[in-house]
Amino acid sequence: MAKRIGILTAGGDAPGLNAAIRGLGKAAIGRHGMEVIGFRGGIRGLAEDQWDVLDKDSLSGILTLGGTVLGTSRDKVHKMMVDGEQRDMIPAVAEVVERNKLDCLALLGGGGTAKNALRLHEAGLPVVHLPKTIDKDIAHTDNTFGFATALEIATEAVDRLHSTAHSHHRVIIAEIMGHKAGWLTLGAGIAGGADVILLPEIPYRLESIVATIERRKEKGTNFSVVAVAEGARDVAATMELEAAEALVRSAPTPEAKASAKQHRRNIEDSHREHPFRLARDLEAATGLEARVTILGYVQRGGTPVAADRLLGSVIGTAAAEMIEAGEHGVMVASCGEGAAAVPLEDVAGQLALVPTDHPWIRTARDVGTGLGD
Ligand code: F6P
Repeated sequence: MAKRIGILTAGGDAPGLNAAIRGLGKAAIGRHGMEVIGFRGGIRGLAEDQWDVLDKDSLSGILTLGGTVLGTSRDKVHKMMVDGEQRDMIPAVAEVVERNKLDCLALLGGGGTAKNALRLHEAGLPVVHLPKTIDKDIAHTDNTFGFATALEIATEAVDRLHSTAHSHHRVIIAEIMGHKAGWLTLGAGIAGGADVILLPEIPYRLESIVATIERRKEKGTNFSVVAVAEGARDVAATMELEAAEALVRSAPTPEAKASAKQHRRNIEDSHREHPFRLARDLEAATGLEARVTILGYVQRGGTPVAADRLLGSVIGTAAAEMIEAGEHGVMVASCGEGAAAVPLEDVAGQLALVPTDHPWIRTARDVGTGLGD
């Protein structure tokens, strides 16, 4: 009998999601003879049984579109806000899977979605996860769709900031997304020729950044572009955050855990001011005017570059093949130019950070970029 599958997109959107939906949907229908439905608005649409049939017509013309035609949300399936209270929606999802006679649910998303997929898998539901994020921070996959497009956008921004920083003899700080990982900032910083790159993986010292800027001044270059990852911190702030995370891990009671989490949230909230504090400190230390540009959501918006369309299509079609073969409880990882199944247990909760001995780090150092250490 023909299989019937459900697709959803969850977490932050990323360019290439529609290519993956299309790849999965077209291969499922055209190659494997399946029926496909698409849940609207991520995990919430799944829990609330909100869906549309996906067919050849609805899957046409979406390859080049940014965002996700299915919509998305950042819900946790075991702790979803419904009518003002937090509910475990796993039983509701199990009913939806049963009611719609689904042979598999394909969840396209980042680290949070991998965790949701694992929770559903542990509840006995047939799921596969397709890794999407501009942050490239998912473990056991060579790449994630969304990253290549965001890298282009962030690189172009760093390029453009050079000419205005040069004209005004300024230090310009460009804050780049990436959550807790520095891949996007490191890639765009190298490709855009940033003078300083600050990553969450390498806690920085202000004096080191100042020394890089001063060296440039001595050579007659009175401007600098600093690419800073949104999760980058100096040594003291890194230690403060690590201590807060340790408190959450070791909290002996639910009340202590809630209060430790609130403490960590306060630290994270105050970090939003980070690029502005850094600008003030650099201005005071170097005597150069400093300005801040937060790239923000433009990094996630708009049409995907070819590499993300290709990757989304490869992962999508591979997912259809795995589902046809009865494979469940896995992430459809990018592996070389193809795909491989990785157990969700190995993926969920694991962050892929930039290793400090990564070739990109060495490349940055070798071309004379300051890393703030
Ligand atoms: O995970 C993708 C990402 O864009 C991160 O780089 C960023 O930290 C986060 O999402 C922003 O989340 P939100 O869309 O919820 O503001």
